[in-house]
Amino acid sequence: MKTDITAALVNEHKLILRMIALLERNAARTAEGGYRNWQFYLDGVDFIRNYADRFHHAKEEDVLFEALVKNGMPRENSPIAAMLMEHDQGRAYVKAMEDAVQRALAGESGLNQTIAENASGYVNLLREHIEKEDNILYPLAERVIPDQIRAGILESYAAAEAKSPATLEKKYQRLIEGYEAER
Ligand SMILES: [Fe+2]
Ligand SMILES: [Fe+2]
Repeated sequence: MKTDITAALVNEHKLILRMIALLERNAARTAEGGYRNWQFYLDGVDFIRNYADRFHHAKEEDVLFEALVKNGMPRENSPIAAMLMEHDQGRAYVKAMEDAVQRALAGESGLNQTIAENASGYVNLLREHIEKEDNILYPLAERVIPDQIRAGILESYAAAEAKSPATLEKKYQRLIEGYEAER
């Protein structure tokens, strides 16, 4: 049997999707004025930066996508180019959401819609992005990446993970559970 090179990434998507569900629920409440726990959004930004981007997207961008390019997928005008563009779009939503939350925390009013719109923009973008990776790009990678480089890919994932604290995943699981329990 071939060494699996995408199951870990699919698994990481599950935690990201739980934060996305929280952002969706709370953004809808913020838009109506009923949710003003700005710390949630800052924690969301922290999770997205350190887990979705640094921990997860780094493995895609530096390891899996590079392996796909080495094995025949074009870098430009390709599914990879589209995925990279979506990673950047996600970062832009997160930055805009963070800026608006910081202004709200500084006492400015009238930012509920801006916060909710950027959170929703991220939710819609990332949910579709993850669906494309889970259902199209990752299965494609499993078909085209040759056996002899698979162990090296897993080693590169481990090296990428080693740049983050070992407790990262546990910490964010607890953070997300806490907000899931919030009413
Ligand atoms: Fe991605
Ligand atoms: Fe992903």
